[in-house]
Amino acid sequence: MREYQENSVVQAIDRLSDSFHRLTLFAPRIAAAARPGQFVMASCGTTLDPLLRRPFSIHQAFADGALELLVKVIGRGTSYLSTLRPGAELSLIGPLGRGFHLTTHGPVTLVGGGIGIAPLLFLASHLPTDSKISTCTVLLGSRTNTDLLVLTEEFKQLGCQVRTATDDGSLGHHGFVSELLPAALPGAHMVFTCGPHAMMTTVARLCLDAGIRCEASLEAHMACGLGACLGCTIHGAGNTYRHVCKHGPVFDATEVAWTP
Ligand SMILES: Cc1cc2nc3c(=O)[nH]c(=O)nc-3n(C[C@H](O)[C@H](O)[C@H](O)COP(=O)(O)OP(=O)(O)OC[C@H]3O[C@@H](n4cnc5c(N)ncnc54)[C@H](O)[C@@H]3O)c2cc1C
Ligand code: FES
Repeated sequence: MREYQENSVVQAIDRLSDSFHRLTLFAPRIAAAARPGQFVMASCGTTLDPLLRRPFSIHQAFADGALELLVKVIGRGTSYLSTLRPGAELSLIGPLGRGFHLTTHGPVTLVGGGIGIAPLLFLASHLPTDSKISTCTVLLGSRTNTDLLVLTEEFKQLGCQVRTATDDGSLGHHGFVSELLPAALPGAHMVFTCGPHAMMTTVARLCLDAGIRCEASLEAHMACGLGACLGCTIHGAGNTYRHVCKHGPVFDATEVAWTP
């Protein structure tokens, strides 16, 4: 699998909500090689501060070279990205890591919480067309309705059935998105999830108990993103250690030591 360092050019930046910005970049080499679930390491400044690149899931990649990132502003690096304007350059390394494996043509369920929704749109747009129209169910959760309005429509345009949950009850179920999963599990052949660790733990356990294959995209603090610093180590099943940047970020639920 090839990785590139590419000076991408910002084509657009859209503020989807108070929390989420969508960056559209021209990065033809990375876009052509990207697979759903992979990520890029982005330089988040024009000086050496902040020094380290930041990891971002590939939100969408298109044949015309456009690559999208969905960014939630939480600190210096993500604040910098939210201020970029069309024409600005952004250095990327990618595509990195191990993405999602679609090993079924049966019904699939996608469960995304907060910024964890980012890689699921790319996945939904790459589901085989025979399963896409009627058998892709997407469960989306966030703090409030504004985070979900645009994304919900985009999943629907891909033929997915969408159910939502919000912490404040302003859209869909009032509560955790994982609470929607038991009703969506019967008939599901495979579940894909990305979001807060506690949410993915619940999703993984529900799937393991039901004997349904589940893949989860994990987050960890990353310094290099390339397998060199070992800063992204997590506990794997069977007393093993796994590196999120190289062995993941997508893991089969059976590979992870899920903690409460
Ligand atoms: C594989 C992967 C994919 C990701 N995809 C996306 C994405 O698509 N969109 C997106 O917005 N973010 C994504 N993230 C998270 C993103 O990398 C962090 O939000 C970003 O690095 C924060 O940088 P910052 O400089 O803004 O914050 P900093 O100033 O570095 O940190 C601000 C605060 O956030 C905490 N923090 C930083 N990084 C993380 C993290 N990874 N997990 C939990 N807390 C953290 C810090 O401890 C600190 O308290 C992803 C992370 C990984 C590992
Ligand atoms: S981030 Fe350096 S080894 Fe994973």
